[in-house]
Amino acid sequence: MRIDRDRLKSLMAKERQKFVDERPKSKALFERASKSLLAGVPMNWMMKWAGTFPPFVREAQGAHFYDVDGHRYIDLCLGDTGAMTGHSPSATVSAVTQQVGRGITLMLPSEDAIWVAEELQKRFALPFWQFALTATDANRFSIRLARHITGRSKILVFNWCYHGTVDESFITLHDGVAEARRGNIGPPVDPPVTTKVVEFNDADALEEALKPGDVACVLAEPVMTNVGIVHPQPGYHQAMRDITRKYGTLLIIDETHTICAGPGGYTFAQNLQPDFLVFGKPIAGGVPGAAYGFTEQVAQCISDRQSLEDCDTGGIGGTLAGNALSLAAMRATLDKVLTAPAFERMIPMATRWKAGVEKAIKDFGVPWHVTQLGCRAEYLFAAKEPRNGTEAHDAMDFELERYLHLYALNRGVLLTPFHNMALMCPATAPDDIDHHTKVFRDGVRALVA
Ligand SMILES: Cc1ncc(COP(=O)(O)O)c(C=O)c1O
Repeated sequence: MRIDRDRLKSLMAKERQKFVDERPKSKALFERASKSLLAGVPMNWMMKWAGTFPPFVREAQGAHFYDVDGHRYIDLCLGDTGAMTGHSPSATVSAVTQQVGRGITLMLPSEDAIWVAEELQKRFALPFWQFALTATDANRFSIRLARHITGRSKILVFNWCYHGTVDESFITLHDGVAEARRGNIGPPVDPPVTTKVVEFNDADALEEALKPGDVACVLAEPVMTNVGIVHPQPGYHQAMRDITRKYGTLLIIDETHTICAGPGGYTFAQNLQPDFLVFGKPIAGGVPGAAYGFTEQVAQCISDRQSLEDCDTGGIGGTLAGNALSLAAMRATLDKVLTAPAFERMIPMATRWKAGVEKAIKDFGVPWHVTQLGCRAEYLFAAKEPRNGTEAHDAMDFELERYLHLYALNRGVLLTPFHNMALMCPATAPDDIDHHTKVFRDGVRALVA
């Protein structure tokens, strides 16, 4: 079935008008913002929301937020996983409130750091941990350490991956040739100088790339989540581990999004054996913080090469990393919010969301499908599940995506502005899901009926 593009354009124009008409206060704020903020937003990605401007937020709590015009939204974006805990979870808020009056940052450790590291040991079966402020930094530090340990210069990533603003990762394959990713702003060097890129789920390509012995580490999401969801095929993770070990390449598993699979992420659920593991975004309930863990062997290699005199200028760490506030927030979040019982509530919500979207797809006969990973689900504009980043990327349709997102936003549902991801938090309720299902059905009906 083909989408009628003229119809799509005219529906989109109507939705844009509705969005503007119903949000005079956000519009006024946006006009004011345009005089002091580049493109009227505090961070460039916020240009990407499907409306003419982003709704300005008045307040958020649990699975919902209100904009300044008084509209209530079901939040299925949840700060693109930063608020997978739900907005302002009470345990995190009370820990942060207490800590904020007792010192925010000192460049000295607090007992919370040990508690959090001990908890992460239990969750991910890795013995040693360090902290950063963002998952991007945790990835960057892990990559640096991998290079330091192996003495190799290159890293390897999967085609159409995303791991934060890590310079080395902005590389894609064009007709089999590695090039800078479209839109890559000011790369320090041409990405193929630093990075090899292969398709996910292709063990032979991985082996070919690692064979020369110049790759320090593979940086991988265990399930790709940033180009839609791409699941590993049976046996692929074992093959990845065997091949990386065979060629002395370290394996960094980035669980920043795949933590949606459960309290120990995909690593615990599938008994993966990474050398490094990165976990950011929701780890502190939305307060900036990230962690990276590693094996005993990696810890030994780092210790053997450590220089006391230069340890503050080696390119790892940060003044505010591991600060007292962030660690208090992590402790409360891990102890009381991102718990096993919370996942037992969240995952069935994603299953319900998937079933609702799947039924609409079937009823209206559109050639799309829905995938789920724990408490995350996503629809993609292709009939079959993709096996790799290219297949997933080929199925994207920016115009269609924006229409469905804006249609939902105008009816009180926020999806992520990148692809069609919906995430559940512990406060997401069946009514929230059913409202999305209705809105999705209506949006698709308007398009094809
Ligand atoms: C898998 C993954 N890793 C790392 C990051 C970077 O997170 P941050 O932007 O918080 O540094 C992202 C961001 O979307 C991500 O999806």
